[in-house]
Amino acid sequence: MIDSADRFDRIRQTEFHELEDSAYLNAASLGPLPQRSRAAVTDYAARRARVQTMSDADFVEPAKHARTAAARLIGATPEEIALGPNTSFGINVAATGLQVPRGSIVLASEGEFPANVYPWMNRDRLRLELVPRTAEGWPDEDRLLERIAAGGVSILATSSVQFHTGFRANLERLGRVCRQHDTFLVVDAIQSLGCLPMDVRQSGADVVATGGHKWLCSPFGSGFAFVRREIQERLDPQFIGWYSMHAGREFEALTGYEWGFVPDASRYEVGTLAQQDLIGFAESVSVLLEAGVSGIRNHVDALLEPLRNWILEHPEVSSLSSFDPSRRSGIVSFRPPAVERVYRELQRAGVVCSVREGGIRIAAHLYNTSRHIELVLEVLETRAAEGWG
Ligand SMILES: Cc1ncc(COP(=O)(O)O)c(C=O)c1O
Repeated sequence: MIDSADRFDRIRQTEFHELEDSAYLNAASLGPLPQRSRAAVTDYAARRARVQTMSDADFVEPAKHARTAAARLIGATPEEIALGPNTSFGINVAATGLQVPRGSIVLASEGEFPANVYPWMNRDRLRLELVPRTAEGWPDEDRLLERIAAGGVSILATSSVQFHTGFRANLERLGRVCRQHDTFLVVDAIQSLGCLPMDVRQSGADVVATGGHKWLCSPFGSGFAFVRREIQERLDPQFIGWYSMHAGREFEALTGYEWGFVPDASRYEVGTLAQQDLIGFAESVSVLLEAGVSGIRNHVDALLEPLRNWILEHPEVSSLSSFDPSRRSGIVSFRPPAVERVYRELQRAGVVCSVREGGIRIAAHLYNTSRHIELVLEVLETRAAEGWG
């Protein structure tokens, strides 16, 4: 643990030193850009200003690196990655394009982030069924699976980690049952990728969508959708990009207009990509991969342990998060008496976090230290000692 704390201290110093001594516990909203990403984006912008010095490679390589980085992050192949601006892009690729009969049922839990709800409310094509949460406010996986087993569900849409409770889905279990019932599994992974390991082969996810700006510490406008190789022929692109076509790759003869998609997930990309954002994305993901996402998970889990213990010792504070090791993530959310007052005091103490759905959401990442959680606990101790008033 000491070794890994040293390692993460070094990463903080080299890549995230501009956080200075702020207790930035808000990756669930927005991650900081590492130094190497900032440098790469700035360098690319400088080359854009001197466009006469750019080569063809400058248009091709950023996307290639981003695709490879995304694939490595989730155990996919680059041919299964469609680059896009945000999570909503990938969810929409699935919601509009999966070949399912008209009026098909899409199942999701209540409480999902709206990016994973509105695209499924496409009433011409799909029927969204929202399954009530457990008494604790978490997705009720037993009930979701019972509903799938009852038949007639074409798509299960879930977040890998819920945005306000930090509750982690058991994707392997969900994926297994989805496969048995020929139900597509679509995962919004923006609240886990970069902090929790993901292996798409194990999870059985058919589509995984994410934006890069949170835990992946990447520029706004960078993200991707994974589309499992085997289902690409069952997921039709609804927006047609010229570069998604075989014939679009023949720069010397573009006007043959021969219909035919490229044989990989780049068929879902629409036109020219945000190269400068993708350069930053690839660099940011390289920081996370070098740190090791399993190591990040362990680091974050250890950091959050004293906060979890403190909450357990204070019955007047309710936890919105599950403390079951298999359900933990980088997020701990809790509801103390007088939430707004506590939140103000946290801000005053230099803690950056969020209030979501009536709870204080603490999101720890690789650049955080135990001192940051101590600061949170100091504020909570003071509020508790003063009767929360
Ligand atoms: C679970 C979840 N999905 C999606 C988003 C954002 O969607 P998008 O990347 O499309 O802006 C958020 C947060 O902003 C989120 O918490």
